[in-house]
Order: sequence, then structure tokens, then C-alpha cells
Amino acid sequence: MKFFVDTADLDQIREAQALGVLDGVTTNPSLMAREGICGTENIRNHYLAICALVDGPVSAEVLGTDYDSMIREGEELAALHPRIVVKVPCTRDGIRAVRYFSDREIKTNCTLIFGLGQALLAAKAGATYASPFVGRLDDIASDGVELVRRVVEVYDYYGYSTQVIASSIRSAQHIVQCLEAGADVATCPLKAIEGLLDHPLTDKGVALFAEAAARMR
Ligand code: E4P
Repeated sequence: MKFFVDTADLDQIREAQALGVLDGVTTNPSLMAREGICGTENIRNHYLAICALVDGPVSAEVLGTDYDSMIREGEELAALHPRIVVKVPCTRDGIRAVRYFSDREIKTNCTLIFGLGQALLAAKAGATYASPFVGRLDDIASDGVELVRRVVEVYDYYGYSTQVIASSIRSAQHIVQCLEAGADVATCPLKAIEGLLDHPLTDKGVALFAEAAARMR
């Protein structure tokens, strides 16, 4: 399973990259706004800065919600850098836009997927990635990981090449559950990735070995 970091914070991206396990980045308008990025020029420069930090795909989300704006913005984003993936919401206009981009070999990430039917439409429209949202489903007492598992199963069964990005990940436990569910990618906050390292027996073992090492010097 690949790891994308779900942030627009350049320091966090650098930190994730330094861990040596980073495969890409996803952003969304909330994450970009949190960094205070506004205006076309700053947005473009920020995506270019992210692309300079990582080798993998960088999802850049369109801001418009109608088909024409999505096409215009998506073409501009895709022209920015060869590793930009145009992120489009799974709406009627979004699915039409995914089809437009996939016909032109522009990579897409179909986002805000909360049901198997939406995942089916994303795959049929030729999305490169489909992003089911785990945490937001759990928030409404639904089962986000179960959706990831079902999407993976159905894509495998019917041979769709769309890759599943487990999104809206909140914890290390979510990452492990999505790994078991067969997700191609988990896009996570850095904290959740770092959480995978936490184990009291590892800490205890390191302390014991350090004590022994001190006696050996
Ligand atoms: C996915 O690409 C989204 O950016 C993201 O995972 C949303 O997560 P949230 O529910 O924590 O906002």
C-alpha cells in the first residue's frame, strides 16, 4: 500500500519525505486555505513547491463546482506539472469532468466518495484514483473502512484499473484497517503515519538495549 500525506503544509511534507516512506501528496481546498494560500498565482506556486518536494503524484483539487469551471481549472492544473493529478468531486458535473480528463489522458482523483455507487461511476468514467472518505463516514456512525473494502472488492472483481485511495484517515488504526481492506493508497495526516511507530514494548526494548549498550562501552 502506498502512503500519500494529506496536507498542504510544506514542513509536514518535508517531514513525511524525510521518513523515507512517502509516495505522494493529496490536498484539498480546506487544507490549502489553512496554509493561507489564496489567489491563482499563489495557488500555482504552492503546487509547484509541493511537486519539487516529492517524486510522486500530487492531487490538486478544482475549486469550481460546475463542469466548465472544472474543465478550465483542471486543464490549467494539469499543465502546471506532469505529476499533478486533477482532483474532482464525485458529483454529476465532476463525473463528466473525470470522463473529459481521462479521454485526454489527464490523471484524476475522484473525491468525496461515500458510497459504492459513486465509486462505480468514478471507475466507469476512467478515474485514475477514487477516494472513499473513511473518517467522515465513521463520524456519522457509518463504517468507512467497510466502504473501502467493498470498493476494492468490486474493482478487483470487475477489473477496473482505478486505484482506491483510503481518505479522511484519522488514526494509525484506520491505516492498518485500510491496509487489511486492500486499499491501494492511504492518504493520511503525518500524525497518523507516525502513530504506526507507537508501541510501548518498542520503547521499553529500546531503553533496555540502551542500558545494556552503556554497560558495553
Ligand atoms: C482526501 O483526499 C481529502 O483531502 C481528505 O482525506 C479529507 O479528510 P478530512 O475528512 O479529514 O477532511
